[in-house]
Amino acid sequence: MPILGIWDGHDSGAALIEGSEILFAVNEERLTRRKLEIRFPAKSIQACLDFAGLSAQEIRDVAVSTSDPAKTFSRVFPNTKEKYYLIRRRKLPLTKSARLIKQLKYKITEFPPNALSEYLSRLFIGKELSALGFRNFNLHIFDHHYSHAASAAFGSGFDKALVVTLDGLGDGLSGSIYLFENGSLKPLSKISAKNSLGIFFEHVTNLLNMRELEDEGKVMALADFSLPFLPEQNPMIEFFEVNDLDIKAKYSSLQMYDELQKILWHTPMEQFAYFAQQALDHHVVALVKNAMRKTGLRKLALSGGVFSNIKINRKLRLADDCERCFVFPHMGDGGLAAAAAMALNHKLNGASKYDMIKISFGLGFENDEVKSALEQFGVKYEFIDEIEMRAAELVADGEIIFWFRGRMEFGPRALGNRSIVARPDSPEIKDRLNLLLKKRVWFQPFCPSMLESDAERLLDDYDGDPNYHMTNSYMVKKEFLQNMRGVINIDGSCRPQTVHSSVPGFYNLLKRLKEITGFGVVLNTSFNIHGLPLVCRPEEALEVFTSSKVKYMILENYLVSKDE
Ligand SMILES: [Fe+2]
Repeated sequence: MPILGIWDGHDSGAALIEGSEILFAVNEERLTRRKLEIRFPAKSIQACLDFAGLSAQEIRDVAVSTSDPAKTFSRVFPNTKEKYYLIRRRKLPLTKSARLIKQLKYKITEFPPNALSEYLSRLFIGKELSALGFRNFNLHIFDHHYSHAASAAFGSGFDKALVVTLDGLGDGLSGSIYLFENGSLKPLSKISAKNSLGIFFEHVTNLLNMRELEDEGKVMALADFSLPFLPEQNPMIEFFEVNDLDIKAKYSSLQMYDELQKILWHTPMEQFAYFAQQALDHHVVALVKNAMRKTGLRKLALSGGVFSNIKINRKLRLADDCERCFVFPHMGDGGLAAAAAMALNHKLNGASKYDMIKISFGLGFENDEVKSALEQFGVKYEFIDEIEMRAAELVADGEIIFWFRGRMEFGPRALGNRSIVARPDSPEIKDRLNLLLKKRVWFQPFCPSMLESDAERLLDDYDGDPNYHMTNSYMVKKEFLQNMRGVINIDGSCRPQTVHSSVPGFYNLLKRLKEITGFGVVLNTSFNIHGLPLVCRPEEALEVFTSSKVKYMILENYLVSKDE
């Protein structure tokens, strides 16, 4: 019987696992259409059950992670979670009481779980599940960082690895280091929530007037526009100290915010972002290098929100001691439903290896379902057997295409199931896309997807280790910068997806494009409207299409088009 994993915090969701396979996984935001949803993942759970044709009563084992007092409090009083969600997303003004809630959050979340918080978490999650029809099930609660670690280790495919997790915080910790060997995880170090690199970067994001827990990637992108500085000139380096396998913060989380604010007062924004990125790099790399040296392990398996930072991942990948570097594709808390299910599957069945090449674990739609949506919207469409061929011709002609094929991808990146694609070599494509739809900030680059077989030719530091989930960054070879103008950062780096033939539709598109243009590369950005989650259903895709000025959309085997 499959195992159900659930996550009921930031970016809530559910996942279903059987044997050594993730059968299905989805995040609640894709179903409620509220970005980074925090509500109990009732719709995701139902989607898991629907996919497997099961009823709630048939599920015997449910896995969840995190039972610290703060998380438990939000389970007992879900309204507080909702209020904090609105404050964080600036839908509520930062009044005095809102400010107090924010400050309390940083204090309360630092406490580790205790018997009472675990009891109450169990009770209130149990109530939610009972209301959905679950009966006689076992609820297994796993530690927050152990769950992140389990997903990294078991998803890596490695037999032996050094596992590192770093994030904001959860269950009293902001990081952990494990040794993964003989199918199990042995803890080597725990980093207290009081010394959180994740919270540090959250503060920086917030101070730059961006959304914490969402826009950290923009901070990273902005940093590229600063003049370079030496670590000795960076006032944020001293905020932390790495001692052996531990990190110590100079300030409490709240003091840290004030200290950062003082720096921002006399620092240009891009330089502020640069300092933060450099400080994060500096300490993460020092910590991981210490751990590699100490254990002699050269393969890294990483998870936790800090490892959404592709610049750090690149530094680790290129570190002398590192042989291979795997980052769990859904590295943030949104991946915790699958992570907890993987932890439980390991506990009950010893499963410690998953195939993560293809991660389209979400909802999929047959051509007849698509057709009825097309009829409903009254758009012009035609059925084409080898639709990738036609799509490649349109892309080669300079068109921007909405691309909706197969089951929705797992995690934060569009990986060729719900994507917007275009030529990678057009300097004005960024502006066109932003005008038409995306409304990104000017310094945020778009990313390429490329045939795995083209990666070595195009990328300078590609070591043959694929980057299927866009979790690492590479430098584009000088001679190809022109061909990739629309998808590189100002420093000539990019975050490519290397595409494997197991994603047939997308792979064939790139293959055909290579025949036409000589390059199996497209610009690939997420199929959504600015501020909304990735589209999930054909109806949502059609809504975006009909309200935009984009002329073509591929919806499974249908080419949808506009006359003008
Ligand atoms: Fe986390």
